[in-house]
Formats: sequence, C-alpha cells, structure tokens
Amino acid sequence: MAPVILLCVVALASVAACQLLTAEQLASAVPGHLELDPEFRKLHPNIPGPSEDVDSFIVGGVESTPHSRPYQVGLYIPASTSTNSFCGGTLINARTVVTAAHCVDMRVGNISVFMGAHNMPPGGDLNIVARFAGDVVIHEGWNRAILLHDIALIRFEVAVPLSASIIPILLPRDATHDYLGNTTLVSGWGRPSDSINAISPVLREVTSWVISNYACRMAYLGTVQDSHICISGAHGRGTCQGDSGGPLVINGVLIGVVSFGSAFGCEVGWPSAMARVTSYLDWISQNQATV
Ligand SMILES: *[C@@H]1O[C@H](CO)[C@@H](O)[C@H](O)[C@H]1NC(C)=O
Ligand SMILES: *[C@@H]1O[C@H](CO)[C@@H](O)[C@H](O)[C@H]1NC(C)=O
Repeated sequence: MAPVILLCVVALASVAACQLLTAEQLASAVPGHLELDPEFRKLHPNIPGPSEDVDSFIVGGVESTPHSRPYQVGLYIPASTSTNSFCGGTLINARTVVTAAHCVDMRVGNISVFMGAHNMPPGGDLNIVARFAGDVVIHEGWNRAILLHDIALIRFEVAVPLSASIIPILLPRDATHDYLGNTTLVSGWGRPSDSINAISPVLREVTSWVISNYACRMAYLGTVQDSHICISGAHGRGTCQGDSGGPLVINGVLIGVVSFGSAFGCEVGWPSAMARVTSYLDWISQNQATV
C-alpha cells in the first residue's frame, strides 16, 4: 500500500507511527465496539445480544464532505502484538484528543492517532498529521461492569499543526443544558452496516436527536445514568455510523463521546448511549494538555 509510505514521507511527525504499523495492520483493524466484546456480553446479558440473522441494508447516513469535520480523529489501538482495534476520537485542543475509556483501557502499546483524514486507513493525503501517542488518561471512575465514565484523553507532547483540515472542537460552556430533542451529528469510520465487520474507507456521518435519559434507561434496563446522553436509533440511525470514542456534536459543540449501543446492531432502532460531556468539563480541564 504505497499511500501509507507516502504519508510517512510527507508528515515528518508521523514517522514513528508509520514504522510501527504495517499496511496489513492498518487494513485489518476491527471497530472497537464495546457491545461486540464477548466480555461485555457476559457483564451485560440484559442488553440485547448480536443478531444471528442480519439483513444487509444500508444504515442511514452519508459520506461526509471531505475535511468538513476537522475535529474528527481516527485511532488504531494495539490490542495485541498483531491486532489493532479502531476507534474514533475528537481533537479538543492542539495537544489533546477525547475518546472512550473502553477504546484505550486494554491497549498494549502506543496509539496511532490520525488527524485531518477523510480516508481510513489514511492514504497519501497531504492534510494528514499522525502521532504515536502513549500519554493516556483514563477516567478514574471508568467501570466496564456498569458502563460509567467511559471517557479518556490522549495527550501529545508537541502540539499538532492546525490547518483547514485539523481544528479542535468547542466544548459546551454551560453544563446545565440537557439538549433534549436537539439535532445531533455523529461521524466516524464505523461499520457502514451491521453486516460489515470492518471500518468504512471514508468518513461517514448521520444525524439524529437527543432522547430523554428516562427513555434510554428503559431501553438499557437501568444502565443509563445522568452522566450519559442518548440519541434516537429510529430509522436505523445508530452509531455504527460512528465509532466508539467518536464525537456526538450539536451545533458545532462536542456534547457526547460514543460509548455503547445495542449489540442487536445499529439497524434495529435501539438508542445509542454516550458519555455526556457536560458531566466531565471539570475532569477534562484538569487533565487535558495545555497549549
Ligand atoms: C510512546 O509514547 C510515549 C509517551 O507519550 C513516548 O514517550 C514514546 O516516545 C512513544 N514511543 C514511540 C516509539 O514513539
Ligand atoms: C436545542 O433545542 C432547543 C429547543 O428547540 C433550542 O432552543 C436550542 O437552541 C437548541 N440548542 C442547541 C445547542 O441547538
């Protein structure tokens, strides 16, 4: 795969990432969906399990206009010496990416972080900046058993150069809004449908809306807490479109970090749950890298 080589040439900062991740590893990375993890199935038997019989129809959503979501980050996380999982993330300042704790808590090495990309694995796009990052802060309250505080930060030693394709997103200023009914945008390289267990080659996005935590709690039998925010899965608008760890955005502001959905899949209309960013503003400001 020549484009990966080109990336190493054009983006000097990415040399380490290029050397340590082969084209084969990039191509074989699997989406880091919490609900597909067998351990998750054991911990959460009440959350509907994977369907044996999946129809392959297209999940709602469209390819993003290239570089129109300049805060979007793609993460390759080494899960063993030979396998990587893939997650999304969001740039919140030139030295900090927000992602889900469940994406990074089992990593066995540094994470390859790609910014400014439209294609994934990233090709020879001149807009891309890559980092090979090991400075990760996982929320101290993160707990796989209760799916609480699924948020983490990845910090860079050196700030990434911002450009038209790489711009940090804004965080909410007012922690009191619940965003009920507001239109949401989720983007990512997640599976384009339930039947494809690989990432999408292009960035995709889907709009939905915020539902009440009460309704979401009904769907997830109590798992949902105040520090979660849920979006409707009506019309198959699930987070297969996005990836774990990726952004839930309302009006250009980061409101959620994609955490979990139903392992039934994105196509059955189950809501998707996120870590509610307004619950973590203090934690983020205390732990982010400063620029
Ligand atoms: C891995 O990450 C650590 C901490 O950020 C950093 O010091 C180290 O240089 C990285 N390793 C490589 C090979 O880039
Ligand atoms: C959310 O929806 C309410 C009610 O429609 C609206 O007043 C508010 O401006 C929206 N907020 C955002 C951030 O879009």
